Amino acid sequence: MKIQIITLFPDMFPGVLGASMLWKAQERNLVEFSYINLRDFGLGPRQQVDDTPYGGGDGMLLKPEPLVAAIELAKQNDPEALVILPTPRGAVYKQSDAKELAERACGLIFLCPRYEGYDERIIEWIDRQYCIGNYVLTGGELPVMIMIDSIVRLVPGVLGGETSTEIESFQQDDESIEFPQYTRPEDFHGRRVPEVLLSGHHGEIAKWRAENARKA
Ligand code: ADE
Repeated sequence: MKIQIITLFPDMFPGVLGASMLWKAQERNLVEFSYINLRDFGLGPRQQVDDTPYGGGDGMLLKPEPLVAAIELAKQNDPEALVILPTPRGAVYKQSDAKELAERACGLIFLCPRYEGYDERIIEWIDRQYCIGNYVLTGGELPVMIMIDSIVRLVPGVLGGETSTEIESFQQDDESIEFPQYTRPEDFHGRRVPEVLLSGHHGEIAKWRAENARKA
């Protein structure tokens, strides 16, 4: 899966995308990340990417020309890719969206807005708009990292044997349900692992997990 990221801050990504499962996914050639620096499409000698809003108001908006030029380059690289914009005005991003995007297996282009937002006319170039929660961040980079993490872990072969089908079977649609889990030692400061988990009775264990699953 090809993932292209359009951002003014490409340096924010390698730490997150270069660690743990996301690093392994690249090592196994299951996913490929690349960056397009929006500044490269800035206008004039100062490579301007933002400007003041018509009608007044605080802050600056991303100009449409650099954004669309960057999207068009990404589309040239991967014409079938979906263009995704994180925005507090988007639909709430859910586990079912991550699943659908992972299963589509097409390329993805993520756009990371900054400042107070973007010129609304870019919307025609966008396929999906997602909000990752009811709070406002300073830019789209963190939401994009979150979406990428949630999608890439579902790409077949990324989690390999590490994903338990038992755990996945509890993750239906948007109900991210997880049961409590324990590892050694059996006794930690007097707090014991529930006996049923030590019993080896798979049926009883599954029942206990279903009863103790929490809805996120
Ligand atoms: N950009 C700023 N805040 C955001 C949020 N909550 N979700 C998606 N994009 C954002």
